[in-house]
Amino acid sequence: MSLNKVTTKTLLEMKKRGEKIAMLTAYDFLIAKLLDESGIDVILVGDSLGNVFQGHETTLPVTLEDMIYHTKAVCRGVKRAMVVVDMPFLSYQINVEEAVKNCGRVLKETCASGVKLEGGSEISEVVYKLTSVGIPVMGHLGLTPQSIHKFGGYDVRGVEESEADKILNDAKTLESAGVFSIVLEKIPSELARKITSSVSVPTIGIGAGPYCDGQVLVVYDMLGLFEEFKPKFVRRYAELSKVIRDAFKNYISDVKTGKFPSESESY
Ligand code: KIV
Repeated sequence: MSLNKVTTKTLLEMKKRGEKIAMLTAYDFLIAKLLDESGIDVILVGDSLGNVFQGHETTLPVTLEDMIYHTKAVCRGVKRAMVVVDMPFLSYQINVEEAVKNCGRVLKETCASGVKLEGGSEISEVVYKLTSVGIPVMGHLGLTPQSIHKFGGYDVRGVEESEADKILNDAKTLESAGVFSIVLEKIPSELARKITSSVSVPTIGIGAGPYCDGQVLVVYDMLGLFEEFKPKFVRRYAELSKVIRDAFKNYISDVKTGKFPSESESY
C-alpha cells in the first residue's frame, strides 16, 4: 500500500497559506477514481452512505464492516487524495479501548489515513488516545447526524448563544486533544468564522458558510443523484438523475422496438 500524496500536514499547510480544501464523499471505486483524477484533496467515506447508498432514514444502522467494505472499494480508485473514514455509531462511543481497536482496524485494513468522529468534549479522551497512538482524527461539530434522535430534527445548530458557545469550546477542546481538522455542519456562518479563526487546524464546512478553510458535500447530492430532499446548502453541479433516467428509458425503448443491438453491435 503506497502513501497518498495529501496528508494531515498538507491540510495544515493549506490552512496556513489560506488555500481552500475541497472534500467530497465517495462510497465506491468509480466515483473515488473520478474524484481523485479531478484533483479533490480529501475523500470522506461518509456514514451518509447509510442514507444515500443503503436507503436508511438515518446513519445509525451503518456498521464498521460496511465502512471497511466501502473504504476498500474507494481506496482502489485513489492515488493522490487523503482518504478519511467516518466511524459509525457506537464504534467509538463505548470506551477508549473499543475506539482504538475499531479505528485501528480501519487504518490496518484500508488505505485510509484518518478517521472522523462526531462530538466534542464528551469524546476528547478518545481523540487524545487515538492521536497519541498515531491515528489521525477529524472532528465533527454542529449538526452531528448520529445524534439526530437527541436533536429531534435536522435544524441549524448553534443558533442559541449557549449552544454556539459550547460548539466553539468543543472546537478548542478537540484541537487540544489533537484533531487534524474539524467538520462544521449546519451552523451559522458567523459562528463558523469565529471557530475557524480560533483554532489552528483546518475547518471544513457543510452548510456552515464561506469562512471555513474548506468545504464538503455528499457526492450524490452535488451530482443531483439523491432527490429525496435538498437542503439549502447543497449546490447541484449536475442533474444526473435526469440523465440516468433518460438513458434507462431510451435503452428500454430500444430493446422493446428492436433498435438495440444493431449489426455493428453484434458478432
Ligand atoms: O457522513 C457524511 O457524509 C458526513 C459529511 C456530510 C460531513 O459526515
